Amino acid sequence: MLDFKNIISHCKEYGFIYQSSEIYDGLAAVYDYGPNGVELKNNIKQYWWKSMVQMHDNIVGIDAAIFMHPKTWKASGHVDAFNDPLVDNKDSKKRYRADQLVEGYAEKIEAKIKKDVDKARKRFGDSFDEEQFRTTNGRIIERQAKIDEAITLLGTHLKNGDMAGLKQLIEDLEIACPDSGSRNWTEVRQFNLMFSTQLGNIAGEEEKLYLRPETAQGIFVNFLNVQKTTRQKLPFGIAQIGKAFRNEIVARQFIFRMREFEQMEMQYFIKPGTEMEVYNHWKNKRLDWHKALGVPAESLRFHDHDNLAHYANAAVDIEFEFPFGFRELEGIHSRTDFDLSSHQELSGKKLQFFDPESNENYVPYVVETSIGCDRMFLAQVSLALQEETVPDADGKESTRIVMKLNPAIAPVKCAVLPLLKNREELVKAAQDVTAKLKPHMNIQYDEKDAIGRRYRRQDAIGTPYCVTIDFDTLEDNTVTIRDRDSLKQHRVKIDDVAKIVGEKVDMASIL
Ligand code: GAP
Repeated sequence: MLDFKNIISHCKEYGFIYQSSEIYDGLAAVYDYGPNGVELKNNIKQYWWKSMVQMHDNIVGIDAAIFMHPKTWKASGHVDAFNDPLVDNKDSKKRYRADQLVEGYAEKIEAKIKKDVDKARKRFGDSFDEEQFRTTNGRIIERQAKIDEAITLLGTHLKNGDMAGLKQLIEDLEIACPDSGSRNWTEVRQFNLMFSTQLGNIAGEEEKLYLRPETAQGIFVNFLNVQKTTRQKLPFGIAQIGKAFRNEIVARQFIFRMREFEQMEMQYFIKPGTEMEVYNHWKNKRLDWHKALGVPAESLRFHDHDNLAHYANAAVDIEFEFPFGFRELEGIHSRTDFDLSSHQELSGKKLQFFDPESNENYVPYVVETSIGCDRMFLAQVSLALQEETVPDADGKESTRIVMKLNPAIAPVKCAVLPLLKNREELVKAAQDVTAKLKPHMNIQYDEKDAIGRRYRRQDAIGTPYCVTIDFDTLEDNTVTIRDRDSLKQHRVKIDDVAKIVGEKVDMASIL
């Protein structure tokens, strides 16, 4: 994995991600996807859509509007409770999320514990028992107690909406501004994360529209429409991919925390009482989805929520080890009947399911899986991007930057390269091969620069296969296929290329 700065600059240099409105010095926490970025992002969405919707008989998709009736957000609790606690440092004038300051304090102590554990592991070798060490070493016990106390108090204050308590906690823990080292803090205030605008030209609360902060509500309000028109029985799911908007207080980690982002969410409607079984089922199924793409098990972990959102009775994050540490990549939430019941109450319309087995009407419970497409993108790029030493054409060693994406999601599946660009017959043959392959997959034709440099360019964007047209091609209609990871080349007939490469990049292999 490269360091975070290099990943960001690589994303720009190779047309994956640009800062939004860059010519005006950019817009904070808003990003645009370039030509390679949009291909990769579309492939990630396709992988999710195929595995969540098309591979399940009882999950269907929708595409709801971003704008929704303002009452939606009252019922969902977002108007009253979708807040983050913000605090400013009076000296540096920097703004922070109070909860993240406390979590940062805990992370620093955890890092010290980890250092001690690593040292002990080295000292004791194979006989080292981490669990035993953590529960018996005096210094670690003391440090862990500090973490537990801070996190418990944080949870209590957040739950009670106690902003004064949060401020006191920051002071008691002697947390300093990461930028200036100052401990001169303002009061902690609640800040609603929804962006608002208005309908037509009439101002006022009634006409206030919100840009949706989650896609889920478009699914809840359509629950009965979908159930009736598809004649689904419980359990069944509704899935959606779409934009969501949050006025994040602190958005400093590239596409990890954006103000405009995309979610891939699935709400699974179930019989009340079955939620824990279903919740565990989706927890494991979603973890397997990541692993099938090739994410190593040690880069993923579950993290149970300490502070449950207003709608949940159980919640877990799938965390991924980003270049800045383990962070939330996806959430699995047991949302009870909170949303459907609230919408039923505020709209006065029944949102119930008639269960033919028990002969009764009830409001279904919901387990949701929710993943940010942009975070998944960042996870994949940061995992795949590597610097390695390889033999070059004349047998010497050289370094290359290679993006080892799973071929099924790579932006370009195959590059077609004539050995020389100044030989008309080679260029013509390469263009013919390109035209043949184009209907089957995303192809890039490249004739500029020496062949070695062209291979490196394709490595840097993750192209799994390069087809080279050389003088033998003109004699016997064969080409070489170069494998991005093994660097091995083999000759095949032009007529077989689409089938050979097609099979290797086929998403079916990971579904
Ligand atoms: N419907 C539930 C929900 O929205 P969430 O945990 O707030 O739950 C789900 O968000 C996922 O959306 C997160 O796991 C993350 O991947 C993504 N996400 C949330 N806020 C984001 C942001 N500001 N920028 C990018 N992705 C974000």
